[in-house]
Amino acid sequence: MTVLITGATGQLGTLVVKHLLDRIQASDIAVSVRTPQKASDLSAKGIDVRKGDFNDLALMTKTFAGIETALIISAEDDNATRIKQHRTAVDAAKAAGVKHIVYTSIIDPKADADFTYSAIHLDTENYIKQSGLAYTFLRNSFYADLLLAGVPHALETGDYGAPAGDAKITYIPRNDLAEAAAVVLANPNDHINATYNLTGTKGVTHSEIAGYIADATGKPVTFVDLPAEVHTGILQSLGLPDHLIEALSGLYVGAKKGDYETVSNDFEKVVGRKPQSVEAFIKSALAN
Ligand SMILES: NC(=O)c1ccc[n+]([C@@H]2O[C@H](COP(=O)([O-])OP(=O)(O)OC[C@H]3O[C@@H](n4cnc5c(N)ncnc54)[C@H](OP(=O)(O)O)[C@@H]3O)[C@@H](O)[C@H]2O)c1
Repeated sequence: MTVLITGATGQLGTLVVKHLLDRIQASDIAVSVRTPQKASDLSAKGIDVRKGDFNDLALMTKTFAGIETALIISAEDDNATRIKQHRTAVDAAKAAGVKHIVYTSIIDPKADADFTYSAIHLDTENYIKQSGLAYTFLRNSFYADLLLAGVPHALETGDYGAPAGDAKITYIPRNDLAEAAAVVLANPNDHINATYNLTGTKGVTHSEIAGYIADATGKPVTFVDLPAEVHTGILQSLGLPDHLIEALSGLYVGAKKGDYETVSNDFEKVVGRKPQSVEAFIKSALAN
């Protein structure tokens, strides 16, 4: 069996490889990366490092040669570009003879979601289904890791700001999502044509998150419900691309309508334990 992971020098991909090495031999693992020099640690472990880029169908088809199961980790670009990139990756996998595609999707992918990136994931899921290959969709909820970005400002000012109102979001640590992917890749035949909703243990509000930060650091931190335009202005001042600002702003609009509050126990079914709670994640990330 040879399993290939795309995006293996990214944050999620790095963790997937780490968890997969706990389960199968390095000689059964290949990775696709845009810059092979960045993956010298993986070659040193005996992993087959291949150059791949979703913008290049011919290259990607070579990259997938001899692979049975491929984890396609979604890329990061505007919707039209990313839809094309993901379709190219699927076409390449099929042309190369890959049997099973595992794909990192999003919770409740929809064409018209306020979280605009959702439409990309719906398109990619549908395209994979139409390819006729076996599939496993890992519908990841939002990374708890994203919550740490506001911590330095919160510790400086006491304010933990987001346009979140009392929205509940089922954040889950990236590391747990990586372990779920590794479990699937280690025994792909147990997960043929399955769709997993990988959420945290509960939907948490930003008031609760501010409380977790305060408890973990012993500093007074409270949630500040930012007006949407203030939040957008902050993201613009950071120089983020427009498509990302639109997606991040939309995430909170959708969350306030209840889009990301539904808890699933699929993570526990796949991995055999509950995911780390947001409270425990923040406590451990801020411990020193
Ligand atoms: N659920 C969530 O909360 C959440 C949050 C953020 C992102 N995401 C999605 O999940 C993905 C993985 O998250 P992450 O934290 O690992 O993000 P990340 O660290 O930014 O990694 C993104 C990966 O995508 C790869 N990539 C980008 N463009 C590509 C292309 N044209 N062809 C092939 N690979 C390409 C990158 O390759 P290089 O290593 O070569 O740069 C990188 O490995 C993201 O790309 C995004 O789609 C989900």
